[in-house]
Amino acid sequence: MGHLFIRNARQVVTALQQPARGPDMSRVKVYERTSLYVRDGIIRAMGALADVEKEISGQPQVVDAEKQVVLPGLVDSHTHLVFAGTREEEFCLRNAGLSYQEAAGRAGGILSTVAATRRASREELVEIGSRYLALALRHGTTSMEIKSGYGLDEEQEIKLLQVIHDLDRMQPIQLVPTYLGAHAIPPGKTAAQYTDEVIALLPRIAGLARFCDVFCEQGYFTLEQTERIFHQALHCGLKLRLHADQLSANGGVSLAASMGAASVDHLEQISRTEIALLGSSNTCATLLPGVSLFLRYGYPPGRSLIDHGAIVALASNFNPGSCMCLNLQLMMSLACTQMAFSPEEAINAVTVNAAYSLGLERTGLIAAGAMADLVLMDLADYRLAPYFFGINHARMVIKRGRIVWANV
Ligand code: NIG
Repeated sequence: MGHLFIRNARQVVTALQQPARGPDMSRVKVYERTSLYVRDGIIRAMGALADVEKEISGQPQVVDAEKQVVLPGLVDSHTHLVFAGTREEEFCLRNAGLSYQEAAGRAGGILSTVAATRRASREELVEIGSRYLALALRHGTTSMEIKSGYGLDEEQEIKLLQVIHDLDRMQPIQLVPTYLGAHAIPPGKTAAQYTDEVIALLPRIAGLARFCDVFCEQGYFTLEQTERIFHQALHCGLKLRLHADQLSANGGVSLAASMGAASVDHLEQISRTEIALLGSSNTCATLLPGVSLFLRYGYPPGRSLIDHGAIVALASNFNPGSCMCLNLQLMMSLACTQMAFSPEEAINAVTVNAAYSLGLERTGLIAAGAMADLVLMDLADYRLAPYFFGINHARMVIKRGRIVWANV
């Protein structure tokens, strides 16, 4: 475990508590000229250089951070990172004017990725996944949720969850596995038949996944099917997340919140009533602005969710269909420019609130006793992170107190 002394950072920027909701999302603590001492993966001391030096025992590795802003390691709480193949054909069709559904109908959509992913071996998927994770790491991501969902049968979904576990063991980003068997309806089956299969598989999944997710949407899974899957998931000890209100509003948010879901994700079509509901719920609203950019449709009402008091997170939704992007710094910029977030709200959304939605305690904030997951950025002020957009500001990434990537 890492033994590190980070000297004199220009700024250390962090949320004050987990989670940050409503007006608290615009609050961060900015410590100027601050040092950090890290031992056994945990931040042990933080403050003025002379005070922190007194806490040091032994010979830690020294990182001079005079020209850097230190943020909590970024947390990507919604990805579909384990898949084979890419879908550039759909990308071109959409750019020529087709909608996501029309392009998917023409070129295969989720099911074409399912076919490619089924053909790939566990080893091949680990190799592809490691390359994507290395890219995410160098952009500052230190924890990530990954969903299954491109297998759509027992053997293949289990293969995908095993790949996530393999990846978790072999690279630094901490991974949180989610079972998304109900991502699409496999060829040759009805939604009703496949829903029964998903429910029957849940007891086997319980040891392999922490969350269960459903794509609750017209043409995919109904509210009733979602509810049945969720009841069984809870019974098997899984926690819940939901793809809700992406293409149409259908009551998924109310259902998920009433069942204690950790997160409802997408929300591009959320109703006013459900915005108000999330304002007083502990269910996190996870917004995916990269999808709006990539699919060229409206952004979710992020400003309104924060103004109503919701706990809001931002995630990449990395997947081959609706967002081929792993850069959470870009998601922060999109949140500021397209959904009227302040830089402070964007930072809290990709750190402490995303960690909250994944149940990662002591993660996503910088304080004595917190996990030493940090990203050092070559910036004079933290507000430059979303403002100077489209490039990678990360200079060094630290996971559990170890330097796991550095651009020197
Ligand atoms: O979150 N909406 C469902 N799942 C993904 C898209 C997956 C795909 O197109 O392959 C999403 O946008």
